[in-house]
Amino acid sequence: MNRKRFVIIMAAGSGTRMGADRPKQFLELGGKAILQKTIEVFLAACPGISVVTVLPEAFIGYWRDYCYKRNFTCPQILVKGGITRFHSVRNALERIPEGAVVAVHDGVRPLVTEKLVAEMFAKAERVPALIPVVPCVDTMKVLSKCKAATGEDVLKAVPGASVDRSMLYGAQTPQIFHSEVLKEAYSLAYDTAFTDDASVVEKYGKSLSYTMGERLNIKITTLDDLTLAEAVMKIREA
Ligand code: C5P
Repeated sequence: MNRKRFVIIMAAGSGTRMGADRPKQFLELGGKAILQKTIEVFLAACPGISVVTVLPEAFIGYWRDYCYKRNFTCPQILVKGGITRFHSVRNALERIPEGAVVAVHDGVRPLVTEKLVAEMFAKAERVPALIPVVPCVDTMKVLSKCKAATGEDVLKAVPGASVDRSMLYGAQTPQIFHSEVLKEAYSLAYDTAFTDDASVVEKYGKSLSYTMGERLNIKITTLDDLTLAEAVMKIREA
């Protein structure tokens, strides 16, 4: 039997590294907030999906007004974020029932395709935890930051440390889980090593399944990422 589908859209970061007046999930791409673009991919890929949007407390009213003014009427359960991404996910999980399948996706990854989302939800019926990854294409260096005599920060090689690139993959979102597994895993105490949901579920002792992600499914973090995302969207919408 198919599980009821949910997506938790993570958008409670304060992300002001770009120097904008709002966190980056609220900046516009092709005339729409990045966050709206991201949610629309899930609505198109999985009609009827329930959307839980996690926001900074101070922006909940802002987002409500934005959706109203733009006539973006999809029902959303709005949840206030926590001090870290881990705490934000934990808040959202209170709104997710057991026996469901739940995707957790970064609100600043609007370039994920409907195809990947639909295929992942179909596969996630059969496995409890499904994680999209992309192979690492750059040569990786293990370096440590230290101070030069001038007081400047410099990078130095860590003697004897090397990594085999063929074994390295970057993890993306959406990461999709059977909800009872994710809810149990998030009962663990917070650890700074929890940088995504897969790391929490793995620490909890559940095995993960992997699938190929997409190179263009970038997490918009810098101005360069915003420029790239704009260009990709223009090409896709042409
Ligand atoms: O900080 P990082 O780049 O890992 O954030 C990834 C995603 O998690 C972003 O979409 C951000 O809005 C969200 N986040 C959150 N609550 C936090 C910190 C980050 O929802 N406290």
